[in-house]
Amino acid sequence: MDKFIIKGGKPLKGEVNISGAKNAVVAIIPAVILADGPCVLENIPDISDVSISLRILYEMGADVRNLGSGTYRIDASKITVPVVPYELARRMRASYYFLGTLLGKFHKARVAMPGGCYLGDRPIDQHLRAFSALGADCSLENGMIDINAGMLIGNQIYFDKITVGGTINAMLAACRATGLTVIENAAKEPHIVDLANFLNSMGADIMGAGTDVIKIRGVKHLKGAQYAVIPDQIEAGTYMVAAAATKGDVLIKNVIPKHLESITQKLAKIGVGVEEFDESIRIYADGPLVKTSVKTMPHPGFPTDMQPQISTLLCLAEGTSIVTEEIFNNRFRYVDELRRMGADISVEGKVAVIEGVGKLMGAPVTAPDLRAGAALVIAGLAASGVTEIDDIYHIERGYENIEEKLRSLGADIVKKNVPGSSVRKVEVG
Ligand code: EPZ
Repeated sequence: MDKFIIKGGKPLKGEVNISGAKNAVVAIIPAVILADGPCVLENIPDISDVSISLRILYEMGADVRNLGSGTYRIDASKITVPVVPYELARRMRASYYFLGTLLGKFHKARVAMPGGCYLGDRPIDQHLRAFSALGADCSLENGMIDINAGMLIGNQIYFDKITVGGTINAMLAACRATGLTVIENAAKEPHIVDLANFLNSMGADIMGAGTDVIKIRGVKHLKGAQYAVIPDQIEAGTYMVAAAATKGDVLIKNVIPKHLESITQKLAKIGVGVEEFDESIRIYADGPLVKTSVKTMPHPGFPTDMQPQISTLLCLAEGTSIVTEEIFNNRFRYVDELRRMGADISVEGKVAVIEGVGKLMGAPVTAPDLRAGAALVIAGLAASGVTEIDDIYHIERGYENIEEKLRSLGADIVKKNVPGSSVRKVEVG
């Protein structure tokens, strides 16, 4: 497996451009199946979750063209078989969005149980509940999810718990159903709104995305559309924390500050300098970092996808910080790796107690998942000495050109190719 080698202790300085949002793109790419004509998608990041999503469409018979500069033309109107290739589907969690889009288009779908980051139990009962509410029968056999519906009839869908994936899948399945669907207790993340905007640009009738009640009036047809994906709030947050952890001064460009509010407020509370502009945000840290408490919540609360990164920063803050992970039941697997670097963290259930230490020391570590891997990069950048990070394929699922972007900010980071790497990028035509 490839690894990152980081020589830490260098403050990040300069400007960095944020790429398109991974968690929006992995929903928008499958959504093109609902269109009766070609779509042109812009600001698509070059990350492996995107490669896998595009490859799935290509293998299903879609015409996928890379027009360059993160723009793709996709015509999925020739897809006739609503089945996703097993090997590709199991490599990423977002493959389950093909369930909603194929059900919406063909009234049936067959997709492998999703893969993705291990963050504890990640059932999909709420997704299946939404599909059943619309009139579908759902079954699971040999690791494949089978969904069939004679007709899809709009209905009320109430989620027992707030679920981003469940909300997205319900939207995808409902936008071509017959009649009105009302989704209650919906997730409100920026990528939910981005998907709704994309679907509406195709001719869907979706109101209320971004609130906890989304109303969808089914339409018979959706046309192809051209759409630019929003910037990635979590990539932006990751660079914000990296700037703070290295006592740097970085202008993070191509962001929507509103999407970053909970992160910005938390950093300011820790003593980090924040300057907001229309489409960029400056982060600088020249004073001491102070302890705080963090609790992850659904949007607009502090995002769970920023929990490993902010915990790493708090290792460098004075005093005792408390981090509570309310969304997933096993999202502290990076703590053991940070301990190798001198962190003083104890975890009890969903709570991590972090005793600030003056500094971290470089060490060989392994990325357990995407955002934990990003946190280890931040730790390596801030630490004295050399940090080697293994299994960086996790990180490359969600961060476009991370080593080039960091090097442009003055970081000493290189990717070392280790012979026999088994994870290969999937390419499309
Ligand atoms: C999405 O995962 C994101 N992934 C995750 O980002 C993100 O952490 C999460 O939303 C929360 O914001 C993508 O968008 C591809 P959930 P998802 O359904 O949809 C439970 C990253 O780092 N639940 O909102 O899987 C679930 O177990 C990734 O980019 C059920 O119980 O998250 C979890 O505890 C990691 N039943 C909670 O709800 C269900 O049917 C929230 O999960 C669905 C979810």
